[in-house]
Amino acid sequence: MEFWRATTRRTYQVHGERKTISILILGLLSLYLLRGVDCNRRKVKVSHSFDDHYSAISCREHTASLTDFGGVGDGKTSNTKAFQSAINHLSQFQSQGGSQLIVPPGRYLTGSFNLTSHFTLYLHKEAVLLASQEVSEWEVIEPLPSYGRGRDADGGRYISLIFGTNLTDVIITGANGTIDGQGASWWQKFKNKKLKYTRPYLIEIMFSDQIQISNITLLNSPSWNVHPIYSSNILIQGLTILAPIVPISPNTDGINPDSCTNVRIEDCYIVSGDDCIAVKSGWDEYGIAFGMPTQHLIIRRLTCISPDSAVIALGSEMSGGIQDVRAEDILAINSESGIRIKTAVGRGGFVKDIFVRRMTMKTMKWAFWMTGNYGSHADDKYDKNALPVINGINYSDMVADNVTMAARLEGIEGDPFTGICISNVTISMAAKAKKIPWTCTAIEGLTSGVSPTACSMLPEQVTNCPFPTDVLPIDTIEIKTCSCRTNYFM
Ligand SMILES: *[C@@H]1O[C@H](CO)[C@@H](O)[C@H](O)[C@H]1NC(C)=O
Ligand SMILES: *[C@@H]1O[C@H](CO)[C@@H](O)[C@H](O)[C@H]1NC(C)=O
Ligand SMILES: *[C@@H]1O[C@H](CO)[C@@H](O)[C@H](O)[C@H]1NC(C)=O
Ligand SMILES: *[C@@H]1O[C@H](CO)[C@@H](O)[C@H](O)[C@H]1NC(C)=O
Ligand SMILES: *[C@@H]1O[C@H](CO)[C@@H](O)[C@H](O)[C@H]1NC(C)=O
Ligand SMILES: *[C@@H]1O[C@H](CO)[C@@H](O)[C@H](O)[C@H]1NC(C)=O
Ligand SMILES: *[C@@H]1O[C@H](CO)[C@@H](O)[C@H](O)[C@H]1NC(C)=O
Repeated sequence: MEFWRATTRRTYQVHGERKTISILILGLLSLYLLRGVDCNRRKVKVSHSFDDHYSAISCREHTASLTDFGGVGDGKTSNTKAFQSAINHLSQFQSQGGSQLIVPPGRYLTGSFNLTSHFTLYLHKEAVLLASQEVSEWEVIEPLPSYGRGRDADGGRYISLIFGTNLTDVIITGANGTIDGQGASWWQKFKNKKLKYTRPYLIEIMFSDQIQISNITLLNSPSWNVHPIYSSNILIQGLTILAPIVPISPNTDGINPDSCTNVRIEDCYIVSGDDCIAVKSGWDEYGIAFGMPTQHLIIRRLTCISPDSAVIALGSEMSGGIQDVRAEDILAINSESGIRIKTAVGRGGFVKDIFVRRMTMKTMKWAFWMTGNYGSHADDKYDKNALPVINGINYSDMVADNVTMAARLEGIEGDPFTGICISNVTISMAAKAKKIPWTCTAIEGLTSGVSPTACSMLPEQVTNCPFPTDVLPIDTIEIKTCSCRTNYFM
C-alpha cells in the first residue's frame, strides 16, 4: 500500500516540475494510470511484519492477525465479524498453548466482541479500535446479579465493547495501542435521559481468573472504562485512561474492581469525568444476597485527575463488602477528593482494613471524604436495617496543597465509622478555604501529626497508622517476556 502511495505521489511531482503546455493531456493520462494503480492496489496486498516483545502472565503458541480474518483498518469498515470469527477460530487452541490475536496498525471500527480463554489480544502501537456508534451493534444483556438492574436504567444493559465471561488466563495488552469508545453520543443520551438501557463499558470481564490488562490507552468510554467483576488474580498495569473533564463526561470511571479478589493496579495515568478507581461489590439487597466482596487489592503509582470525583472511591455499591485495600504512591491533581468512602443505610456490607499512604495531593476540594448518606438505591425494596460496617481505615504520610477543606467525615448516626487512623498528614489550605477545615459526625478514631488539627472525634495520639507488611499472592506472580512476531497483509 505504501509503495503505491509513493509511486502516485512521484507521478504528480514529475508533472508539476515540467509545466508543459500539454498538462491537460498528461493529466488525463495520469488519471488513466491512477485507475490502473487503483485496480492493482485492490488486488495486491502488501506483506508487512513486526516483531514486538511484551511482558505477560502467559505467552502463546499460536498467533494470528486480525487482517487474516478480513479486518480492515480504514476507520469505516465494521470489524465486528472479523474480531468474532478470529476469536472463534483461535479458541480451538485453548488447550494447545493458547493464542494471540494481533491488531496491526490502522483504525478499526468495531462493535462488541467476546474474548476466549488462554488468549491475548495485542494492539500494535499504531492500532486504534473505534467503538461503533450503531446502537444495533450493542447487544442488550442481563443486569449484573449483584446490582439487580442497570445503573443508568431499569432492566438490561448494553454489552461492553470487549467482553469476557467464565474465562481463564486472558490478556489485553499492546505497545500502548488505543481503544476509543467514541462515547460522546452516549454521554448526550445519558444527559438527555434518552437511554433505554445502561451504557456499555469499554472492557468488562466477569467470572474469570488470571486476567491481565496492560499497556494500552483507553479514550472516551461511554461509561466505566475497565470493569473486572466476580473475578480473581487480576493484573492491571500501564493504562492511560482519558475522558473529557470539560464538559464532564458522566460516569467515565477509570478502573472499577467489583467483587474481585487479588487485584493489582499499578502505573496508571487516569483523567476521568468520575472516580479514577472505584472499588465496588454490588448494590443494596442484590449485593447483599450475592455476597461477594472485593478484597486483597493493591493500588500503586497512580496519577489521577478527577475534578468532579475521587481519586480512590470505596463504594457507593459496596454491599458485598470491601476488605484489605492497600494503596500507595498516588499523585492526585485537581480532584474533588483523595479517598472517599461512599455508603448508605440499606447497603449492608462492610469497608474494613483500608490502608492508604504516600498520597500527594495538589488542588483538592476535600483531602478525605466519607459519606454515610449517599442514597442512590437500586429500588425502594432495600432493607432499612441493613447498616454498613465501616472499620479500620488507616491513612498516613501525605502532603496536600491548595485544599478547600481538609476532611468531611460523615458516618451514620447509630452506626459510626470506627477505627479511623490518620497520621503524618500535612494539608495546606487554599486561599479561599473553608473556615473550619474538618467536619466530623458519627466517626471514631485518632490522628497523629496531622495539620491542620483534626476534629475532636479524632484526638491526637502519638502513633504511626499501620500499613501491612505481608506480601499478597498477586504481587509474586511470574511475568514472562513474550513475543508476537507476525506477518500480515494489508
Ligand atoms: C509496559 O510498558 C513499559 C514501558 O514501555 C514496560 O516497561 C513494561 O514492561 C510494559 N508492561 C507490560 C505488562 O507489558
Ligand atoms: C458474548 O457473550 C454474551 C454472554 O455470554 C452473549 O450474550 C453474547 O451473545 C456473546 N456475543 C457474541 C457476539 O457471541
Ligand atoms: C459462569 O460462571 C457462573 C458462576 O460460576 C455461573 O453461574 C454461570 O452459569 C457461568 N456462565 C456460563 C455462560 O458458563
Ligand atoms: C500512551 O499513549 C498516551 C496517549 O497518546 C500517552 O499520553 C502516553 O504517554 C503513552 N504512554 C507511553 C508509555 O508511551
Ligand atoms: C488501622 O487498621 C487496623 C487494621 O485494619 C485496624 O485494626 C485499626 O482499627 C485501624 N485504625 C487504628 C486507629 O489503628
Ligand atoms: C511523613 O510523610 C512524608 C510525606 O509522605 C514523608 O516524606 C516522611 O518521611 C513521613 N515521616 C515519617 C516520620 O514517616
Ligand atoms: C488552587 O485551587 C484553585 C481552585 O480551588 C485554583 O483556581 C488555583 O489555580 C489553585 N492554585 C494553585 C497554585 O494551584
